[in-house]
Amino acid sequence: MTEAVLVVGSANADLVVATDRRPAGGETVLGGDTQILPGGKGANTAVAAARLGADVALIGAVGDDAHGRLLLDSLRGSGVGTDRVRVVDRPTGAAYITVTPDGENSILVSPGANHALAPADAADPAGAKVLVASLEVPLDVVEHAIACAARAGVRTVLNLSPTAKLSEETLRHLDVLVVNEHEAAWLLGTDGDGSGGSDGSGGSDGSGGHDSHNSDAASLLDLGPDAVVITRGPEGALVATRGEQADIDHVEVSSPQVTAVDTTGAGDAFTGALVTWLASGATVADAARRAVDVAAVSVTKRGAQPSYPLLDELS
Ligand code: RIB
Ligand code: NA
Repeated sequence: MTEAVLVVGSANADLVVATDRRPAGGETVLGGDTQILPGGKGANTAVAAARLGADVALIGAVGDDAHGRLLLDSLRGSGVGTDRVRVVDRPTGAAYITVTPDGENSILVSPGANHALAPADAADPAGAKVLVASLEVPLDVVEHAIACAARAGVRTVLNLSPTAKLSEETLRHLDVLVVNEHEAAWLLGTDGDGSGGSDGSGGSDGSGGHDSHNSDAASLLDLGPDAVVITRGPEGALVATRGEQADIDHVEVSSPQVTAVDTTGAGDAFTGALVTWLASGATVADAARRAVDVAAVSVTKRGAQPSYPLLDELS
């Protein structure tokens, strides 16, 4: 069977605790009851796309345990193809998540089974229209998946979350690079710790203004992708694409204003929606316009996958 969207990425059980504040080193803080919810950036992206009506499959790995079954149930219940989700002899990935009253989260990930994924698992793009990857699985898996997809003429989208040092070749193969502002700064080496992949030409002046966003996007395009999407939380997204004459087309997409209760997985919802509309022929900017709406709905509800809207729940 050919799925239009193929996702390469992680599946994690999200162990979520609400807390008034996060413990400092050596400190103990009492939080709320633990909720165990299906998450992981790959599974989230796949579920978001499937709930919007995309025909989608996940390439991933889970353990032979209760968390693995929770993930497979959530994927299948949303209509995601799981033939290429391997059950392996390591614990299912887990994400230890604290959520504070402002809806902000912090996440510690134990990759477990996700790190049993191998490049060969992701070598066959199987006639997909779009392959989308994220980085809670080994970097060599993602780079191989993108190279194979590019060679087969499949569109490639990468959500550089969490950050990883990509080869120049991978960056050049990308049709669409999706990053948040932190990931953009990391990639450009403008985040202060100098760990990014920049040649030093990054254009951010650190002021976060309109021009600095546009020049960041332009610098990211210089790294090789055909289009760059910078997600900006409640500010929406910035889309930069290279035009015919090597000119750059910038589109600012604004987000509906909502009250956030839990931002966990909002970026994955955005990416899942983006690839859904890309697979159905939309431009990157039009796909991003739909994707900000989907991400905005997701932050109004708790959890990642359980908060993703169905197509007919969008206004
Ligand atoms: O992007 C959100 C996801 O990050 C969570 O679902 C958690 O599993 C971590 O992987
Ligand atoms: Na949510």
